[in-house]
Amino acid sequence: MASEADLGTFYSANITPDRQTGIGDWTDGEIARAIREGISRDGHALFPAMPYDRYRHMSDDDLAAVIVYIRSIPAVQHSVPKPDINFPINRLVLMAPEPVVEPVKHPEFHSARDRGEYLAEMASCAGCHTPFDSIGTPMASLAFAGGNTLKDFDGKPITSLNLTPDPSGIPYYDEATFIKTIRTGQIGARKINSVMPWTIYRKLTDDDLKAVFAFIHTLKPIVHQVDNTVEATMCPACGREHGLGEKNK
Ligand code: HEC
Repeated sequence: MASEADLGTFYSANITPDRQTGIGDWTDGEIARAIREGISRDGHALFPAMPYDRYRHMSDDDLAAVIVYIRSIPAVQHSVPKPDINFPINRLVLMAPEPVVEPVKHPEFHSARDRGEYLAEMASCAGCHTPFDSIGTPMASLAFAGGNTLKDFDGKPITSLNLTPDPSGIPYYDEATFIKTIRTGQIGARKINSVMPWTIYRKLTDDDLKAVFAFIHTLKPIVHQVDNTVEATMCPACGREHGLGEKNK
C-alpha cells in the first residue's frame, strides 16, 4: 500500500520469502532487526509508519514465532518502489531507529488489562489513534484520543476516533459492544471504515478482545471530539482538520 501526505510517499515492503523482491535471503537476525529496530538489511532506516517503535517491545519468543510465520507464507515476486520522503522528514527518519540491546522477555501479565496493553501495543492501536505533531512525534497529551487522518481505500479522508472513556470518546462502550464492533465492523447502524483494521482484529479470540477492551477502558479520559460523519473543521487541539474539530480547544 502507498501512503501520501506532507511526509512524502512510501510503500509497504514485500515481506514474502521471494528471494529477489522479498526477504527470502535475509537471515533471522536481519528480519528481527527490521521488525524491532527499524533498520533494513542494507542499513537504511525504515519509515516509522512501520511501527517498530512498538514492536521493540515484542518479546523474543513472539518475534521468533512471527519470523517462522512470515517465512511460511507463499513467495510473491513483486518489486516495490523506493520511498520518496520529503525534507525534513527524510532527515528525521534517520534518527528514528533505536537498537534493542537486551533480550526482550515475554512480559508477565498480572491482569487481563496488562495483557490487553501488550496486545494493543502489538496491534499498534496508538499508531493510528494517537495524533502526531507536524514532525511525526505522537502527542502524549492526546494519547488514544484520535485525530490522525488517513485515506481510506477509496482515497477518502478518514480520521481515527477518540478511544478514551471521556464523554467525547467511547464512554458508552462495554465489553460486549467492543467485541461486537470489532467482529462486525459496525456499531449500531454506523459502519466502521475498513481502514480501521477490524477485518484483521476480528480474528482475535474473545479472551484477547476482552483483554484489549480491559486496557482501553482504563485509559485516561481525554477531551477530543472527532466525528467522521460531519464536515472537517480545524481542530486547535491536534492542529488538524477533522469533523467537530472546531468544538475542541
Ligand atoms: C490503521 C489505523 C488504525 C489502527 C491501527 C487502529 N485503528 Fe481504530 N480506527 C481507525 C479509524 C480511521 C477509525 C474511524 C473509522 C470510522 O469512523 O469509520 C477507527 C475507529 C475505531 C473504533 C470505533 C470508535 C467509535 O467511536 O465507535 C474503535 C473501537 C477502534 N477504532 C479501536 C481500535 C483498537 C482497539 C485498535 C488496536 C487493537 C485500533 N482501533 C487500531 C484507525 C485505526
